Amino acid sequence: MSYKHYIILTIGLLLNLSAHASNPQIHMLVDTCIACHGINGSSVGSATPNIANMREKLFIKAMQDMQSGERPSTVMGVIAKGYTTNEIKLMAQYFSQQQAIPHRQDFDTEKAKKGRDLHNLYCNGCHKIEGQTQLLSNNLAGQQIPYLRHRLTEFINDADPTISPLMKNALKHFIANNSQESLDDLIHYYASLGGK
Ligand code: HEC
Ligand code: HEC
Repeated sequence: MSYKHYIILTIGLLLNLSAHASNPQIHMLVDTCIACHGINGSSVGSATPNIANMREKLFIKAMQDMQSGERPSTVMGVIAKGYTTNEIKLMAQYFSQQQAIPHRQDFDTEKAKKGRDLHNLYCNGCHKIEGQTQLLSNNLAGQQIPYLRHRLTEFINDADPTISPLMKNALKHFIANNSQESLDDLIHYYASLGGK
């Protein structure tokens, strides 16, 4: 065997070993999340967001903001405190690679139609949905209505000081040009993306 082949073989073995070493670790870490966020990050409960396919940076920021208590939360503040920065990074990498399964849920067809137009005008620049890759933010497609409503209410009430200024300004701009009720059209549009 040539030296080159030997090196390639060694690298292959090392990669293989490290893959086996890190797999049990990541599964031990994310096992805790499954009860609420589903096996691959597509959540079970209606107040629990899908975290599958979440952008790594946003995942890490969300976990750290909830860990410090700056971002309000019901359960995540306590849960996030149990993890080191390194563990959070590992989980961010894992969940960012999972495919999000949009929730199928009841929605109002008329509202969803209006919401689609509003979305394309005001939100799609950052929350790309149709046939495009995500840029700045998370995909809102198929998140559950109660969670979306809760999160937008937090933003409107200035209850979350960690909200990105981009999002804050986008929401201000939206509300200045529409009624606050039109937000409900947007919510029904995102809900409709899980299908009938
Ligand atoms: C008991 C249920 C529960 C468990 C277990 C749980 N979560 Fe959560 N998670 C929630 C809820 C509910 C929210 C919304 C914030 C809140 O109210 O706490 C949330 C929000 C989040 C968010 C923010 C998502 C966003 O769009 O901003 C992330 C990231 C997250 N969880 C990651 C995790 C990880 C990683 C684990 C496992 C270590 C985990 N969660 C375990 C219920 C849970
Ligand atoms: C200029 C970019 C930008 C625009 C435009 C924008 N957003 Fe956002 N949005 C963000 C960023 C950045 C975040 C923070 C990251 C995150 O939590 O997903 C965010 C977060 C959110 C979240 C919370 C997601 C979660 O799980 O916590 C919702 C809901 C949301 N935006 C809805 C909207 C709606 C509805 C519109 C249109 C009226 C809109 N956004 C327009 C950038 C933007």
